[in-house]
Amino acid sequence: MKAVAYGRYGSPDVLSVEDVPIPAPGPKQILVAVAATSVNRSDWEALTGSPAYARLGGLYSPSRRVIGSDIAGRVAAIGSGVTRFRLGDEVYGDNLNLMGGFAEYAVAAEASFVHKPPELTFVQASALPQAAAIARQGTAKVASGARVLVNGGGGGAGSFAIQLAKLAGAHVTGVDNAAKLSFMLAVGADAVVDYRTQDFTRLGRFDLILDLVAHRSMFAYFRALAPRGRYLCVGGTARALLRVATVGAGLGLVTGRRLGLLIAGQGPAHFKPVADRCISGEVQIHVDRTYPLDETPRALAYLGEGRARGKVVITP
Ligand SMILES: NC(=O)c1ccc[n+]([C@@H]2O[C@H](COP(=O)([O-])OP(=O)(O)OC[C@H]3O[C@@H](n4cnc5c(N)ncnc54)[C@H](OP(=O)(O)O)[C@@H]3O)[C@@H](O)[C@H]2O)c1
Repeated sequence: MKAVAYGRYGSPDVLSVEDVPIPAPGPKQILVAVAATSVNRSDWEALTGSPAYARLGGLYSPSRRVIGSDIAGRVAAIGSGVTRFRLGDEVYGDNLNLMGGFAEYAVAAEASFVHKPPELTFVQASALPQAAAIARQGTAKVASGARVLVNGGGGGAGSFAIQLAKLAGAHVTGVDNAAKLSFMLAVGADAVVDYRTQDFTRLGRFDLILDLVAHRSMFAYFRALAPRGRYLCVGGTARALLRVATVGAGLGLVTGRRLGLLIAGQGPAHFKPVADRCISGEVQIHVDRTYPLDETPRALAYLGEGRARGKVVITP
């Protein structure tokens, strides 16, 4: 089969299309003939080995040769003990532990996948697992009337988070680069901020800041929080994440504002409720571009260079 593989951290140039054996599913695993795999920033981080936590699996070289975790496709083989799927079933899920989605076939844990609803195309289904799970957990406690800011609102998780916060009745501010401001307004943001020209931490007080790309000091975030406000950090520089986990927790204790990390739970329980809202028409899935498998490096570059609005999907 064809797979897009790499053996060292770097730019998309380190990826190459290779002929490799089709993997065999182990116990409680399925083999998926991949129809679509969406690109997440976590793929970009695994490719570049940056931030530092992206090297947890392998300090000097990547632990997995084929990345790509949000997969939709058909079950092509079944490992022992699999009870929920049969050959040919249409499935989708988050394969973050095993990856392998930028290929014609990928092995996945049965527990990480569910049947694809017929109302969603493979491309749409692949856009959901990681981004929808983050967005749902990040906006779970949003109350009607709350002032919510989504930093990184023009990307995959951000575009779902803006929609979910709006549906909860919040006033939503989206922050991203200038080229994504109209996109964030289109998905429902009430106000938008270009992070390259404006500092959102000086724009007023928010009840919730959902930060997908943290890199600021704790004091800047603290300044932007309303009394009893909450700052949730989902991703960002290793330094920023460390500061949230240490200084942020302490600041929270003495100020009544809460600053913490969101370690997003993975799996169907977290993304399926958003899929249901997509099927009912409440939430839209925004796929900016699709690329054939051979062009996976271009797809990753498109995301890494900051041009992707919503999701980018590979269709082997
Ligand atoms: N906590 C967890 O459990 C968990 C699990 C998986 C993933 N993650 C993290 O979740 C995050 C979301 O990923 P995603 O797939 O939604 O990413 P994405 O699609 O790349 O979206 C991120 C957006 O943030 C923008 N951005 C970059 N720097 C910014 C800045 N300084 N200020 C404001 N916006 C900025 C990007 O725009 P540009 O185009 O300008 O770069 C992009 O539009 C990632 O950080 C990932 O590591 C967390």
